[in-house]
Amino acid sequence: MENKNDNKMKNKIILVTGASDGIGKETAKVLAKQGHTIILHGRNPQKTQAVYEEIKAETGNVNIEYLTADFLSFAEIKRFADNIKQKYDRLDVLVNNAGAQFTDKRETTADGHEKTMMINVFAPFFLITLLLDLLKKSPSARVVTVSSAAHKMGGKPYMDDIELTKHYSMGKAYGLSKLYVIWVMRHFVSEMEKAGITNITFNTVHPSSAPTNLARESSKSWKFRIILFLWRPMLITVAKGASSSINAATAPELEGITGKYFGPKGEEKTCDKYYSPENEQIIWDYCKQTVKPYL
Ligand SMILES: NC(=O)c1ccc[n+]([C@@H]2O[C@H](COP(=O)([O-])OP(=O)(O)OC[C@H]3O[C@@H](n4cnc5c(N)ncnc54)[C@H](OP(=O)(O)O)[C@@H]3O)[C@@H](O)[C@H]2O)c1
Repeated sequence: MENKNDNKMKNKIILVTGASDGIGKETAKVLAKQGHTIILHGRNPQKTQAVYEEIKAETGNVNIEYLTADFLSFAEIKRFADNIKQKYDRLDVLVNNAGAQFTDKRETTADGHEKTMMINVFAPFFLITLLLDLLKKSPSARVVTVSSAAHKMGGKPYMDDIELTKHYSMGKAYGLSKLYVIWVMRHFVSEMEKAGITNITFNTVHPSSAPTNLARESSKSWKFRIILFLWRPMLITVAKGASSSINAATAPELEGITGKYFGPKGEEKTCDKYYSPENEQIIWDYCKQTVKPYL
């Protein structure tokens, strides 16, 4: 006989962002195999449709659909979230996987934001904010956000220059974006507590290092290509890398667990060298201010 807890774990409605490639694609495939309803997100319609066809054929799961949006645009994220809100009456799992690295030349989006911070920090913050009502309607919702071990490598944060107008480098932007997103997710935990919302957990994960297309932009620099070449022996498989997200999304033993950081081998400690509640609040307030005009 099924108990209530088993029931909670089955037929979840799961959104995986950045599911058109790499770790997100593998995450979506395994979650589809588990039998859940999957919303695949990608930015390129043709590429995302091809992944959708592949996952459907390989898993036999027909409860899959794909939706596209460029997460470098707040208007696109809003349109995407509105679409989901029209189609679904609840969301059980949101996997914030879409992410990117750029080059050593600082670039901004059409909205005027540094691109790394936009896709790795502001986009997941905005998407959660927009989908919070749907997550509240789940009996037990999980938000899983893909950070990186690189959160330890961005060096000293500049709390008065979050978008790195004066201190930009590719490594700093990527490392700090992955640090800030950990702080933001931690802050969501306390915001939920304050609001008396008990059904949504927020955890961050890292996939170790896996051979994906993540470095498609950053590897334009020969310096970075050398680092990537030397790094090759450290790589694990994409399947192993994706296991962090998959476990955080549906593992029964993680039911109700919140505010943690997981890697492929289980829970890990984040680097808290630059952490303080004040810094966490600064990033949170910055995200709130940044998305406000687009709500
Ligand atoms: N691979 C690693 O070793 C590693 C290590 C630590 C953390 N991570 C993190 O893992 C996550 C997945 O990365 P990955 O390694 O699987 O890289 P990937 O193969 O490049 O996949 C990234 C996904 O994000 C999507 N994406 C990129 N820019 C986007 C945009 N502007 N709007 C919407 N979607 C966008 C990509 O879409 P397209 O298919 O159109 O490109 C793709 O689906 C990222 O958050 C990354 O930072 C990866």
